[in-house]
Amino acid sequence: MGPKDEPGTYRYKESPVYTASNGCPVRTFLTKVFDPESSQRIGSNGPLLLQDFHLIDLLAHFDRERIPERVVHAKGAGAYGEFEVTDDISDITTIDMLKGVGKKTKLVTRFSTVGGEKGSADSARDPRGFSVKFYTEEGNWDWVFNNTPIFFLRDPSKFPLFIHTQKRNPQTNLKDADMFWDYLSTHQESAHQVMHLFSDRGTPYSYRHMNGYSGHTFKWIKPDGSFNYVQLHLKTDQGNKTFTDEEATALSSSNPDWHTQDLYEAIERREYPSWTCYVQVLSHEQAEKFRWNVFDLTKVWPQSEVPLRRFGKLTLTQNPQNYFAEIEQAAFAPSHLVPGVEPSADPVLQSRLFSYPDTHRHRLGVNYQQIPVNCPLRAFNPYQRDGAMAVNGNYGANPNYPSSFRSLKFQQPVKASQEHEKWAGAVVSQQIPVTDEDFVQPNGLWQVLGRTPGQQENLVKNIAGHLCNAKEKVRKQAYTMFYRINRDLGERIEKSTEANASRQARL
Ligand code: NDP
Ligand code: HEM
Repeated sequence: MGPKDEPGTYRYKESPVYTASNGCPVRTFLTKVFDPESSQRIGSNGPLLLQDFHLIDLLAHFDRERIPERVVHAKGAGAYGEFEVTDDISDITTIDMLKGVGKKTKLVTRFSTVGGEKGSADSARDPRGFSVKFYTEEGNWDWVFNNTPIFFLRDPSKFPLFIHTQKRNPQTNLKDADMFWDYLSTHQESAHQVMHLFSDRGTPYSYRHMNGYSGHTFKWIKPDGSFNYVQLHLKTDQGNKTFTDEEATALSSSNPDWHTQDLYEAIERREYPSWTCYVQVLSHEQAEKFRWNVFDLTKVWPQSEVPLRRFGKLTLTQNPQNYFAEIEQAAFAPSHLVPGVEPSADPVLQSRLFSYPDTHRHRLGVNYQQIPVNCPLRAFNPYQRDGAMAVNGNYGANPNYPSSFRSLKFQQPVKASQEHEKWAGAVVSQQIPVTDEDFVQPNGLWQVLGRTPGQQENLVKNIAGHLCNAKEKVRKQAYTMFYRINRDLGERIEKSTEANASRQARL
């Protein structure tokens, strides 16, 4: 890694000697002159020689440059920064990172779109991922959030099925409006997220100009050992800024990497983006009486009833030196937690605890935590040994079992947890049925959009412009969803969509 003198300029003081991967300086066979671009051959036009290790080494490595792209959230950008505690919340948390106003913790972020491939356009209408890895004194704590406070589903078994419908048709290999709307309109618990997706916040201006939300409920352990349920919000200090559908569509061809470029260049200009962090808190007792199921990922906690409490600021100050090493290989997981925070029983969260480390092992290998960007400040687990790419010394001569010859220390919890959830019941396999309650919050968002002139019109236009590409049967299914949210919304979407569909049929 070379020294970085000025933003955007990299100056290397020395010219290193070029070698093959085994460190052997590379020269051409005959001339002994430095030249990495000549392959060994017989005569000037003869066949190549298998003994040319430099060439074989170069080609063989090139052949293996690609690792699997993320199955979702494949296109992304990231940067390093710092978190600072701004407000005392010691009454509701025992998390070390959050103890003490002014305490700072280093972090890495990765922002992403969800459905597109690694080369897809940044400006696509899609939720955005907002991941943060905090290198805390007590291990890495990952926030694997989105820019929307809710999600399309509340049963994790639907996730692969849902994602298939938002990606490509297995036969045509094309994006498919029938699949897209057929799924959403026959799984109407998605209505709330569909409203967010087709509002202008579905096409953010940049990664800097959007919020992040935990979506899920987590548990924070209090100093007395009891717990609260919490949801986290990261509000952009740059202000929410969005593209219209037309602007986003135009940008997808004129500059498909706009979000990536915007983030990188802002940091190089030293315009460091920041987010203010808030927590919503409900006690166990409050949650039991709450109108909304706190384990239902399709619902928010209304801010008038559960106010936001500020606790910190997250600022990005440094670009990666190498995208692949530091961002592509970053491995975020909702199960990377620290003492004082625990997962709630939200079934989607519970499944995500498994899915991310599982995909990291597939994408990066079993020792993914040893890759520098993923390395915690301290880790000592000599019972995890060997495996491909064990590059941390593999715990040397330390015993690989709980040995009476070398004892390990175990950290005591701040206080034993006293009143955690107690679960009992018959084993069931069932979906939560969609009821009228599922359309109350989407209607709430429709009312929020009504506060800003043009927002409701844009939502209707954005939906009609996409839904008109689906078959009549699918369009009709979708109208039933929007009528259940709000009659006026349903009528406006039906009218605009059918007008678009008739226009297309005439072309
Ligand atoms: P509030 O009036 O207290 O909050 C409204 C929320 O809506 C604010 O968080 C605001 O986010 C967000 N918002 C404002 N304009 C838009 C927009 N154009 N598109 C999307 N979101 C917007 O009401 P409630 O908390 O009762 O929520 C009402 C509805 O607002 C919900 O049904 C939900 O869809 C949506 N919402 C709620 C959130 C929550 O956690 N309670 C979070 C985000 C949205 P900001 O202040 O960051 O601009
Ligand atoms: C990425 C699974 C729901 C946010 C991923 C990846 C998988 C996955 C396999 C790829 C990870 C990698 O290769 O490193 C799932 C499953 C879900 C689910 C099974 C539900 C059952 C959610 C929800 C959110 C979310 C609800 C947000 C609240 C993200 C983000 C990334 C991601 C931000 C990108 C991480 C990064 O930047 O590397 N998800 N996901 N996902 N997911 Fe999910």
